[in-house]
Amino acid sequence: MNKEQLQQLAAFLTLQEKIKMIHGAAFFATAGIPEKNIPPFVFSDGPMGVRPEYGPDTWYPIAGNDDYTSYLPCNSALASTFNRQRVLESGEVLGLEARGRGKDMILAPGLNIHRSPLGGRNFEYMSEDPYLTAEMAVSCIKGVQKNDVAACAKHFALNNQETNRTSYSPVVSERALWEIYFPAFRACVKEGHVEGVMGAYNKFKGEFLCHQKELVNDILRGEWDFDGMYVSDWGAVHDTQKAVDCELDVEMAATNNFDDYYLASPLEKAVQEGRIAEADLDKKILRILGTMNRLHMLDGERKSGAYNLPSSRQTLLQAAEESVILLKNDDSLLPLAPKKLKKLLVIGDNADRTHASGGGSAEIKALYELTPLMGLKMLLGGNCTVEYEPGYYACVTGNAWEGENAQNAFANVGTSFASRQNRKVRDDEVAALNASYKEHAIAACKDADAVIFIGGLNHDHDVEARDRSDYHLPYGQDSLIKDLLKVRPDMIVTLIAGSPVSMEEWIADAKAVVFSYYNGMEGGLALAETLLGMVCPSGKLPTTFPVKLSDSPAHSLGQFPGAQTVNYDEGIMVGYRYYDTYHVKPQFAFGHGLSYTDFVYDDLSVSMTETPEGPACDIKLTVANISGPDAKESVQVYVAPLTNDCDKDLVRPTQELRAFDKKEIGKGERTGFSFHLDAIAFSYYDEASHSYKVPAGTYEIRVGSASDDIRLRKEVTVTETCFLPRS
Ligand code: BGC
Repeated sequence: MNKEQLQQLAAFLTLQEKIKMIHGAAFFATAGIPEKNIPPFVFSDGPMGVRPEYGPDTWYPIAGNDDYTSYLPCNSALASTFNRQRVLESGEVLGLEARGRGKDMILAPGLNIHRSPLGGRNFEYMSEDPYLTAEMAVSCIKGVQKNDVAACAKHFALNNQETNRTSYSPVVSERALWEIYFPAFRACVKEGHVEGVMGAYNKFKGEFLCHQKELVNDILRGEWDFDGMYVSDWGAVHDTQKAVDCELDVEMAATNNFDDYYLASPLEKAVQEGRIAEADLDKKILRILGTMNRLHMLDGERKSGAYNLPSSRQTLLQAAEESVILLKNDDSLLPLAPKKLKKLLVIGDNADRTHASGGGSAEIKALYELTPLMGLKMLLGGNCTVEYEPGYYACVTGNAWEGENAQNAFANVGTSFASRQNRKVRDDEVAALNASYKEHAIAACKDADAVIFIGGLNHDHDVEARDRSDYHLPYGQDSLIKDLLKVRPDMIVTLIAGSPVSMEEWIADAKAVVFSYYNGMEGGLALAETLLGMVCPSGKLPTTFPVKLSDSPAHSLGQFPGAQTVNYDEGIMVGYRYYDTYHVKPQFAFGHGLSYTDFVYDDLSVSMTETPEGPACDIKLTVANISGPDAKESVQVYVAPLTNDCDKDLVRPTQELRAFDKKEIGKGERTGFSFHLDAIAFSYYDEASHSYKVPAGTYEIRVGSASDDIRLRKEVTVTETCFLPRS
């Protein structure tokens, strides 16, 4: 339909029909208007696959066996691939499955910045770095939307913690907004042409994000020209007039009093009483019809989808393989040689645990989920015995995502004498169980050819509605790992988690450490293949792992989680920007991830040109795989401002990621990489002019394998200061 036809369609709608289109009439759908050929608009979570079906007005699953779905690597895992193609393909799977399950908008990707290692939903987000987040989110959106399904970039904006998530108001500098917190959302709109953006629960400048006119009307709609649907998070609207004024299109919530929603009967009444003009609804209707039209929901030309295709599983396996991160590998302990193994001992709860059904709204009813133990057994069957010891007792409740309520209930129960007694009995039992698990694990270590520990976190810790309270590993794992390493200094430590964890207590004693985010249905196989050398690891950390929590900028300079007001006093110094600039050595740096081969970086050439849009830079280099096996490498380009000719007192991060690319390089082969940087790569956000400024001065182009492993450098000069519009 063209614009005029859409306008005609809108003009024939009654007030009641318009109201039907702008609020939930079920937990995940608006009401359709069949008489006018307008279908309901159907949503589903989320980033890791299409969520199980719920009843229209109850939070009970409709317990069929037909809503199993593919389980994708979580967003941090996708970002760890540092490979746009893998993320695009995973997005395609997500869109295909959403369409196959009859959805119109999939509530993904999540792209809030990792501000603290404790953030409960870090796993649903990409990275601490705005450029990596933007590139990955745009790739994901393009993949999803190929299938006539809308993606939804969430949560706009500054939704960086779960503590007080429905009420806190962050205080952030304008510069940090435009350098750190906005770029990925802007890219989703301008480059990804995303159809949906979700208004977050939290506030900014004291106003809820679904009422926040400065961010929504002026910036998202005005400056970025977003004409898709701005959808509230579930229950994030608090006022009829403000939601209308804010150019919010659809109000969704998690309670079934649908007619009472702010954009339902209260709005109808306000229009009838003349307090709100009906014309104020028309812009919303036109935007919703616009999205429906682009998804071919109105013309019968829509693509069909499919879920659980074998080819999709293959795609997700490839993404999972590229996201496993080899953190440490002294004495080339890894990979293990399968032929030399007669007895392999695997210790740890995460070896045998599935994670798909946890985490909150990102939960998935996975068609299957291969655990690491399963993966190892699948690949080693026959000549090698794989023994398993839990090593520690993980008391997983699995229902923790409704955290606010669950925590309160638990706190109340915990105050009675009887329950304190019960808890003591339970704690004593757990302690006894843990001691016996540990004893068995230590005993089993002795005659194994190799020992792999597989622990970390689970979705009782990486979960919606609650941040972690402790940076250390839970369930006494630190002391267990320490004790096991005394008996088996060659033990491989593998951690599965959704956020950084402390390794301080044992890292010096561990020779080989592997990290995997929640890696989807094929995650256990990808991990096993990596440990056994069938896949050469190529994942890179999308987030810094600090030694101690107090090293992290949100905790040392700013506040986390704060109270109702949260001061982001670290400003632009988020993640590696802080660690590099303030010389705080992390446990593992942003971009770090080893391989089973050695890469030699060479032949760097850098040429600067002046364009009407400011300076531009072309970079070329070669990377050789000198020792094999065939492997993939993500080359990272950082720009470091060295001298600044106009703003002598300006503080800038030591270096910032401005480009990356990943390629496969065969054993003994050499491959060329080339990059183009625009002026924005040299800029910072100038609050005085409200624009990006590229100061004249010298810069260093740094090319490396990680933010702390720069292999090649070259100085360049920007001769003239220029400004770039922020939109
Ligand atoms: C979450 C959103 C999710 C929505 C619908 C909210 O609690 O914050 O990310 O999409 O629920 O399930």
